[in-house]
Amino acid sequence: MRENKEGMDYGLRIMAEVLKAEHLHWGYFPDKKFKGEEMTLTGLKEAQLDYTKHLFMFIPDTVQSILDVGAGLGKTAYLLTNNGYQVSCLSNDKYQQTKINEKYPAIPVIKNKFEDSRLGQTFDLILMSESVQYLNWPQTLYKLEEVLKPGGFLLTSDYFRKADSSFYKTCKVRESFEIATKNKFDLIKEEDITDNILPTLDFAMYGFNNYILPAANIVSELICNSTPPVVKCLANIFLRKQLQKAQYYIWGHTPEKFDREKFKQEMYYVIQLWSRK
Ligand SMILES: C[S@@+](CC[C@H](N)C(=O)[O-])C[C@H]1O[C@@H](n2cnc3c(N)ncnc32)[C@H](O)[C@@H]1O
Repeated sequence: MRENKEGMDYGLRIMAEVLKAEHLHWGYFPDKKFKGEEMTLTGLKEAQLDYTKHLFMFIPDTVQSILDVGAGLGKTAYLLTNNGYQVSCLSNDKYQQTKINEKYPAIPVIKNKFEDSRLGQTFDLILMSESVQYLNWPQTLYKLEEVLKPGGFLLTSDYFRKADSSFYKTCKVRESFEIATKNKFDLIKEEDITDNILPTLDFAMYGFNNYILPAANIVSELICNSTPPVVKCLANIFLRKQLQKAQYYIWGHTPEKFDREKFKQEMYYVIQLWSRK
């Protein structure tokens, strides 16, 4: 569920409003031990804070100014500001922009797609925490040249496909991403954190199987039993595609995405620090 024509990503908004998350990334579990049924929302929020702190360890000592591209709800920018950096946020999402303005009025927020932005300033480091997967990559590299100071850094943290398969098909294939990026940047540090994010998938699977699926089954039964046959017939004719799509997302596609073994087999989650050539 990505950005629509209203300029809002409803999937990310659900994370913010239903889960009350302050970060929109998957978190990081240092000891990799949590099991889905043992985890709580508080545990997930702690993991999100641990991820953010872990990411900060990759920031080189010389960095003073940071642009957080795909800044989510602004919590990362706020924590960076508390650590003494000058931070600006950029997001293409109007809901997120409003939330950042309300919560952190002192932090500048630009609402735009990064690829189309005209910032008129440069930064020591561009941070992309789980936003690489949304960006048009060759185009983004040119924009990075425009907004990064000479000798500046790009810090990326995201999940990538190992090959061009349909699993998480909106994510970039790691190899193509790296080949393109290496035209403009040198890779100076990286860490594969796939194992450290898997408990989030377990938690999502547990929540899905125990709460979302039973609720969806009840609602679908209720609709089925209370809808007059003529309306069912019309819905089948006029809404067939939408109904099939909803069915596929709830009962097929989503549980597959939370399968930790499949994720491990098909994906990498990697933090990479790049320096501008
Ligand atoms: C998964 S969220 C990650 C948010 C935040 N970085 C975090 O770690 O919590 C992805 C972010 O990228 C933003 N985004 C998506 N496409 C974008 C684009 N073309 N330009 C700038 N931001 C974009 C989304 O609105 C969202 O803020």
